[in-house]
Amino acid sequence: MDLFYYFILLIAVISASCAGSDADMKCASRDYGHGSVVCVCNATYCDTITTTRPVPYQSVSVFTSTKGGHRFSFSVTKLSTKSKISTNNVVITLNKTIKYQTIKGFGGAITDAATVNIKNLTSRTQEQLIKAYFGPMGIEYNLGRVPMASCDYSTRKYTYLDTPNDFNLSTFELAKEDMMLKIPVLKSIHQVSSRNISLYASPWTAPAWMKTNNDEIGRGWLKGTAGDKYHKTWAQYFIKFFEEYKKQGITFWGVTAQNEPSNGLLISSKWQSTGFTPEMQRDFIKSDLGPALKASEFKNVKLMILDDQRLFLPSFPLTVLSDKDAAQYVSGIGIHWYWDWLVGPEVLADTHEKLPGYFMLATEACNKDTPQPDLGNWETGEKYSNDILDNLNNWAVGWVDWNLCLNLAGGPNWAQNFDDSPIITNATGDEFYKQPMYYHMGHFSKFLVEESVRIKSTIQGNSDLKFVAVERPDGSLVLVVLNSSTKDVTFNVVQDNLSFTNTIPANAIQTFSWSDK
Ligand SMILES: *[C@@H]1O[C@H](CO)[C@@H](O)[C@H](O)[C@H]1NC(C)=O
Ligand SMILES: *[C@@H]1O[C@H](CO)[C@@H](O)[C@H](O)[C@H]1NC(C)=O
Ligand SMILES: *[C@@H]1O[C@H](CO)[C@@H](O)[C@H](O)[C@H]1NC(C)=O
Ligand SMILES: *[C@@H]1O[C@H](CO)[C@@H](O)[C@H](O)[C@H]1NC(C)=O
Ligand SMILES: *[C@@H]1O[C@H](CO)[C@@H](O)[C@H](O)[C@H]1NC(C)=O
Ligand SMILES: *[C@@H]1O[C@H](CO)[C@@H](O)[C@H](O)[C@H]1NC(C)=O
Ligand SMILES: *[C@@H]1O[C@H](CO)[C@@H](O)[C@H](O)[C@H]1NC(C)=O
Ligand SMILES: *[C@@H]1O[C@H](CO)[C@@H](O)[C@H](O)[C@H]1NC(C)=O
Repeated sequence: MDLFYYFILLIAVISASCAGSDADMKCASRDYGHGSVVCVCNATYCDTITTTRPVPYQSVSVFTSTKGGHRFSFSVTKLSTKSKISTNNVVITLNKTIKYQTIKGFGGAITDAATVNIKNLTSRTQEQLIKAYFGPMGIEYNLGRVPMASCDYSTRKYTYLDTPNDFNLSTFELAKEDMMLKIPVLKSIHQVSSRNISLYASPWTAPAWMKTNNDEIGRGWLKGTAGDKYHKTWAQYFIKFFEEYKKQGITFWGVTAQNEPSNGLLISSKWQSTGFTPEMQRDFIKSDLGPALKASEFKNVKLMILDDQRLFLPSFPLTVLSDKDAAQYVSGIGIHWYWDWLVGPEVLADTHEKLPGYFMLATEACNKDTPQPDLGNWETGEKYSNDILDNLNNWAVGWVDWNLCLNLAGGPNWAQNFDDSPIITNATGDEFYKQPMYYHMGHFSKFLVEESVRIKSTIQGNSDLKFVAVERPDGSLVLVVLNSSTKDVTFNVVQDNLSFTNTIPANAIQTFSWSDK
């Protein structure tokens, strides 16, 4: 029986890997000497990822990426019905009867900078890049964050209402960045995706004339108090933004009340910001933004508060949401990853316990450890998956990266606040580089589809592997495992009366999927 099974499995693996090499383009790797490789894509070539491969009955699909250079390497492992596991082994046990949050998804930000970089490539290379993120052979992001007007990742400072004292918004107008860059890219995203794309918008600065310091940057907040003409106009600015985008065929799933409200409040901001204390955000939502959204055709747009570092958990959301009049308009809490070393991820679980009716979404993250993008650095990718795992295991419903792509300098950014990104573009060579971060994102975004539900997963034995498990809407199971050490680790996975054995290589991330039917 077993021999026969292995024979079938062998045939299946051979045909799957042949089919794989036909169906999937391999990583065109390039080593810049920074620890691992990037995969190079251009107008005619880009590596692809197919996850809908036929696998034999009772087997597990395994996708592996390693510091050593594997990128979504595919293999098949036998799913055994025997559950006799040596107690000496490391064992990950799944129990799908114990369920947690429903997954919303994964994505990145469609900033001015990202779209400047995309539009600086030839049209065929642009299409490859958008497909790499959103296409069925790419990592299939389903979330996108869209800044409302400019931020530091713009080439200039602007808002949509720069005419002083225009309280009736008669001069409100989208910028050339929206018309020439962001909206065309958003349209392409919708074209290539076979998933439902959910976009959310975030404002950085209100028009300077509406702010206490009459400037887009620095330390300043809205003039006056909640309910007055400044606050009413700022709320109408959100509605106008949705209306103008709708005219261009782009609609939104969500919005955050303000990007990083602590920026420009506690510190003098070097780039666009509008400061809000939790009390100011509560009152603005209660008197202005909430009623304006509710009275508009955009009343179903999900309003998120905070959109700032987790060190403000749970106090900031508790201040806003313990007011019933403000809370009625709010759906979720946005969280950024900077300063994470100050407080552990348990503050998310604590916030969930105190405010179970509101989802938590990781709304921004990026690596800014080096002054320029670090091409082929594996550790920046590990940081992403490490943080994604921490967030998912503490009730976050998804994780959204910052700029979809940056140029070789980590920009453009008018404030010179440069970062790294999962995709770096080289306009001179008309090519782009998929960093390890891109593949770390893909090990989640490709597999943990919207409406998947996290299930209980525990580990026994001597290991610090990090992992998360979900049940997908089609009933299949997915387990993502990260090993950030320099040693290979062998472990067993047990799910009810099924089990399999696996060795995860050193510095690797793996995604397993199987059906228990
Ligand atoms: C595009 O990439 C492929 C694969 O690496 C390579 O064979 C081809 O020469 C490249 N095309 C250009 C124009 O650089
Ligand atoms: C899974 O959890 C349920 C509910 O707590 C429990 O009854 C069941 O025994 C668990 N199954 C396993 C295999 O541990
Ligand atoms: C808006 O305000 C301007 C001057 O502030 C005025 O000329 C214009 O008539 C107003 N428009 C509306 C629709 O109220
Ligand atoms: C997209 O959303 C629609 C409406 O909610 C739903 O019927 C459909 O199944 C979704 N499609 C995917 C691919 O999730
Ligand atoms: C656009 O591409 C050109 C080279 O083709 C380059 O000189 C310029 O810096 C690029 N722009 C940005 C914003 O990267
Ligand atoms: C970008 O492309 C140009 C032109 O092909 C090439 O000379 C340069 O080395 C590339 N930059 C990197 C970082 O690969
Ligand atoms: C594997 O990776 C984890 C982090 O994901 C690390 O802490 C651990 O030391 C590694 N090795 C083993 C043997 O678990
Ligand atoms: C495994 O459990 C399922 C129900 O959870 C049951 O239908 C199946 O017969 C079991 N298989 C074996 C080999 O025990």
